[in-house]
Amino acid sequence: MWHPCTQMQRARTAVPPLPVARAKGPWLEDYEGRRYFDANSSWWVNLFGHADARINAALHDQLDRLPHVMLAGCTHGPAVELAERLSALTGGVLGHVFYASDGASAVEIALKMSFHYWRNTGQDAKREFVCVRHGYHGETLGALAVTDVAVFRDAYDPLLMRAHMVMSPDARQAGEGESAADVAARAIAEVRTLFSQRQGHLAAIIVEPLVQCAAGMAMHDPAYLRGLRALCDEFGVHLIADEIAVGCGRTGSFFAFEQAAPPGEPPLWPDFVCLSKGISGGYLPLSLVMTRDAVYSAFLGDDVARGFLHSHSYTGNALACRAALAVLDRFAEDDVLERNRADARALTTALAPLHGDARVEHMRQRGMIWAFDVREPFAGERFAERFHLAGREHGLLIRPIGRTVYLLPPYVLDEGLAQWLAQRTLATLDATLRRTPDIHAACTPEPPVA
Ligand SMILES: Cc1ncc(COP(=O)(O)O)c(C=O)c1O
Repeated sequence: MWHPCTQMQRARTAVPPLPVARAKGPWLEDYEGRRYFDANSSWWVNLFGHADARINAALHDQLDRLPHVMLAGCTHGPAVELAERLSALTGGVLGHVFYASDGASAVEIALKMSFHYWRNTGQDAKREFVCVRHGYHGETLGALAVTDVAVFRDAYDPLLMRAHMVMSPDARQAGEGESAADVAARAIAEVRTLFSQRQGHLAAIIVEPLVQCAAGMAMHDPAYLRGLRALCDEFGVHLIADEIAVGCGRTGSFFAFEQAAPPGEPPLWPDFVCLSKGISGGYLPLSLVMTRDAVYSAFLGDDVARGFLHSHSYTGNALACRAALAVLDRFAEDDVLERNRADARALTTALAPLHGDARVEHMRQRGMIWAFDVREPFAGERFAERFHLAGREHGLLIRPIGRTVYLLPPYVLDEGLAQWLAQRTLATLDATLRRTPDIHAACTPEPPVA
């Protein structure tokens, strides 16, 4: 087997894949019966733990009725109901849902739809895309063209469509006396300059609202999203919110973009939302793009080519849609967002010792995502790999991004589990840094800051 996102030479020698025999709740179990806490929700997809009883029951029921039927020329209940329920969550503003299977395919769809919309409305010149420094939108060629993570992109760069790049609003860039909102304001000013220069040529800007996850959980102030919405309105540019990683409650609201408007003010919405990962609870591949009536209507007409002729064989798979409906049921029945707030407080408290730890910086949290960066001299060579292996020894499945350690657990924490998770994370950090080659020669540790 050729594993994804893996240098196989390394997998054959230093980091063999963890063989997982079964899973229940947040726990993965290997063939020897050892348990590992799934601290990154299996690549950010799992919301309610593995083998959740209610999602399992829904899938068993769906399996006997209709596992799959093609969605061109046919329709089915779970796809219709899911579209209706998601639309309702936006008050009907994003009232049209186009299905696909993986996250990257949703990004392709949003880009193509935006371009095609401008063509259908006689504005053919609007065909350029804008993306954000360090952004990540998937690995297919279109998605990679608006992605800025060198390790994924560089080898294929000659193949890629050219997109404009604007600065990241990452709050870690704040200078002396600058706040996260100040960084957001700087980033917005840069977008304004580009929008003015390329007026009439831009189709869309694509962003990951609130957290650029693959960039190493880079978080920004919601004012950035507000600023983007205003600029997109002013210059007639589509706003694509890639909520593949940050949607479904991960940042504290069901859609991350809901935090764009200040509390008490009318909601702001992007023109497209891409969802995947958590929407089907970590069970089955499902992605979708939600958009406005104005976009949908522009594709109507007698001419076939005016329509959106995009498809994937498993588009809107009935089992996957049914899993997603069970996920939405969980949100409705269990007051998930409120419970997550309480659980998040418990984990934040348990991680508090890291604040005074001179080995780490930029401790940050939004919703159900926690991250900190290990300072360069402490991290040493192959930090992510060493931390990951030490994590396994401490009963954790955890995969840092570069020097960034993050926790993105399933929504099944309680106070005891939060304390356990924090304690194991700290122990893994200690074990990893104890083994950092030459660390004591490389630097003198700074005294802890209060
Ligand atoms: C923000 C974002 N967009 C798109 C993708 C791509 O999704 P997939 O891996 O399902 O193609 C990811 C995956 O990590 C992501 O985080």
